[in-house]
Amino acid sequence: MENQQINLFFDKLKRIVNDKTLIKLVLSNQRDHSSELKSTIITIVEIKKGVRLNFVYRFKTKDITKNFAFEEAIPIIKKSLEDEFFNADLFTNNETIQLNIAKRGKAKIKTTRPVLKAVDSFAHDHVKERVIATEQNVYLRELGILNANYEVYHEMSDKYLQINRYIELIGPTIRELSLSDGFHVVDMGSGKGYLTFAMYDFLTNILGKKITMTGVESRNELVNLSNDIAAKSKFSSLRFITGTIAEVPLEKIDILIALHACDTATDDAIFRGIVSHASLIVCAPCCHKQIRKEFRVKNELKNILKHGILMERQAEIITDGLRAMIMESQGYQTRVFEFISTDHTPKNLLIVGRKVTINPADKLNILENINRIKEFYGIGQHYLEGLLAGAGK
Ligand SMILES: C[S@@+](CC[C@H](N)C(=O)[O-])C[C@H]1O[C@@H](n2cnc3c(N)ncnc32)[C@H](O)[C@@H]1O
Repeated sequence: MENQQINLFFDKLKRIVNDKTLIKLVLSNQRDHSSELKSTIITIVEIKKGVRLNFVYRFKTKDITKNFAFEEAIPIIKKSLEDEFFNADLFTNNETIQLNIAKRGKAKIKTTRPVLKAVDSFAHDHVKERVIATEQNVYLRELGILNANYEVYHEMSDKYLQINRYIELIGPTIRELSLSDGFHVVDMGSGKGYLTFAMYDFLTNILGKKITMTGVESRNELVNLSNDIAAKSKFSSLRFITGTIAEVPLEKIDILIALHACDTATDDAIFRGIVSHASLIVCAPCCHKQIRKEFRVKNELKNILKHGILMERQAEIITDGLRAMIMESQGYQTRVFEFISTDHTPKNLLIVGRKVTINPADKLNILENINRIKEFYGIGQHYLEGLLAGAGK
């Protein structure tokens, strides 16, 4: 396929990849409408081997993901434009470039203003990590996300998206931590281990870290299942143990993760992270029962909280808001943000705390603010406060 406009398009693509301003390239408008491949979405990822172009092939009933070096990717894209698609839409931070190829092969480029926002701009030297690849991914296959050909089951594509989003969100923070080799990551309430395996994969195979990782889970059958999958995946320093978040014996925790552990089990996990002086605490709370039961609102707000749903939402905000403040009082710099859209799961908040030093005056100030908020809502004690008080913290 030789054509001046097409050559110009690939020159632009090369420049955009080099400048790291590519948001995504979408190949679409099928040449053959009966083809199962509906579109291909290409983004930049950084993996251990370096920067790669990540291809997501969107079939009617499944997605297949593959990474290619730039030089390998160009002939693949060219071939795809010859055989499969008429259009290539190049979304960048600065412009949108559309290549349309007519049936007889004549191509036209149109350049317009940018229409997509850069999620994680390469221009800021901040490499986007959407990297849990499906190729030969044993744990994703064993967990039922991929079929025997390592293709994402259509009905599991949300789960696959959630796993990637989780790594994209937490990855950059972990990358910034200066932890020495051998650090210990604990995932409390690991469940079936989807996110535990993905984090282990990211830390060891993508970041190249030497770590030990422990998944803690109260259900023995899940622990056995996860240990089997860890062995099949040759994840030699990942183990799962049966126990409760509050009491399971553990060596020093460097990174504490607790995703969707119920109600105060999240507080038990945060507490274990704090007393172990963990460098990073990551939790996605769920079921906010404790604070809701504590609410004794006597001010004007009671006119709003008489509605059950508003009371529920308020209790969630106050529970998690106080959690973040209590972590801050213990010397953690916190961020609270959405994990994944509510289309995928209603449990969508992440609290991330990074260990910093705090001076006594700042601590006192935070504690006073916590007390004022508790007073406003008539709350006696946040469960996490009780745990810390019991430990003299
Ligand atoms: C909703 S699942 C979440 C699994 C996984 N973290 C995720 O986000 O995909 C919660 C898991 O935590 C476990 N769990 C809840 N409370 C626990 C506790 N106190 N100690 C240990 N495991 C607990 C449950 O058995 C369940 O498997």
